[in-house]
Amino acid sequence: MDVLVIGTGGREHALVRALAADPGVGAVHAAPGNPGIASSATLHELDPMDGATVAALAVELGVGLVVIGPEAPLVAGVADAVRAAGVPAFGPTAEAARLEGSKAFAKDVMSAAGVPTAEARVCTTYDEAAAALDVFGAPYVVKDDGLAAGKGVVVTPDRQLALNHAKACDRVVIEEFLDGPEVSLFAVTDGTTVHPLLPAQDFKRIRDGDQGANTGGMGAYAPLTWAPDGLVDEVLRTVLQPTVDELARRGTPFSGLLYAGLALTSRGLRVVEFNARFGDPETQVLMALLDSPLSPLLLGAATGTLADVSPPVWKPGAAVTVVMASAGYPESSSSGDQIVGTETLGRDSAVHVIHAGTALVEGRLVTAGGRVLAVTAVGHDVADARAQAYEGVAMISFPGAQWRRDIAAGR
Ligand code: AMP
Ligand code: GLY
Repeated sequence: MDVLVIGTGGREHALVRALAADPGVGAVHAAPGNPGIASSATLHELDPMDGATVAALAVELGVGLVVIGPEAPLVAGVADAVRAAGVPAFGPTAEAARLEGSKAFAKDVMSAAGVPTAEARVCTTYDEAAAALDVFGAPYVVKDDGLAAGKGVVVTPDRQLALNHAKACDRVVIEEFLDGPEVSLFAVTDGTTVHPLLPAQDFKRIRDGDQGANTGGMGAYAPLTWAPDGLVDEVLRTVLQPTVDELARRGTPFSGLLYAGLALTSRGLRVVEFNARFGDPETQVLMALLDSPLSPLLLGAATGTLADVSPPVWKPGAAVTVVMASAGYPESSSSGDQIVGTETLGRDSAVHVIHAGTALVEGRLVTAGGRVLAVTAVGHDVADARAQAYEGVAMISFPGAQWRRDIAAGR
């Protein structure tokens, strides 16, 4: 089976690498892709938001599966367009992708399904927002209702800042602050059967010590040796399965990747957010640790046959990924800065480079976005993987590069 992967980021590069290593996969195609993806897949130019074009390319290539990486095309119905053309698509319908596309919708589903999450109010006016802030108190949590690439959430002790963010958005969700460590647990589902992957941890803030602005994610590691026993079973039972069942009950089943962003609070686990796609950069570490083929899981989810597919198998040891971002990220990003050193890290070694915002200009690799690349390493434990990932980071440079020094430190 040939596969087409839609997207340009690190997540898509990690998925493409895993598919290229899968004996059940023939050719891997990617659109639009990036220079890193080009080493494992044939690239095609297209607008990933244009469902008709994506479907036409899938038909023309004769692929047996289309994997849609990012949230924006999913929310725009690109998976629906691919399925309408008769090609299996990994990724939810536009309806079901609202789980990520609207925080208010996600709250409604969780409430109906009895899934534990922060108490919240949906506000559309300044006065409603002000009242909601006072109900929950500081620290204040204000979320843009729509898609915002991980940057629509403000968590602050400053009431005025919280109000300013609410004012800047049409519709916000204001909610209680959740304490405790965050965990990302992904599950592959066909709308009925749910196969959880390994819990991972992502580092969302731009600076060491979880300081500074929220980003898409500056690094990740797995497994979480400190996590309580039975965490995956508990999340499956109290979060993943009830959510999948509720969406099926509503007649809008969710298939694809259900991403549960969780907080392990002093009062028990709570959902911070759902996403409707693989997380980035957690996918980098999960794909580095996956020891069974990826395509049966994705195809099983896409075709409603996941019950016949064995759960994934994981390598022993651990993986760590460290994101190198361009100058100005996350407020802005720099492009065109020459990247050196990536060629010294072998494609198949324990340490590898996952490309995100990179481009080839006249044969030179340059930056082309906020999160530029991620150095990913597998080791016998988290400390070993971390040491190797940072050795890789030390070999790569570009003007203005920013990376956190504390990814997976002490884990
Ligand atoms: P979200 O886009 O909903 O994942 O939010 C981005 C980040 O903001 C999360 O990963 C958390 O670090 C933080 N955050 C979101 N909601 C809350 C909350 N209720 N309490 C504390 N932190 C939160
Ligand atoms: N790592 C956070 C995200 O993918 O949304």
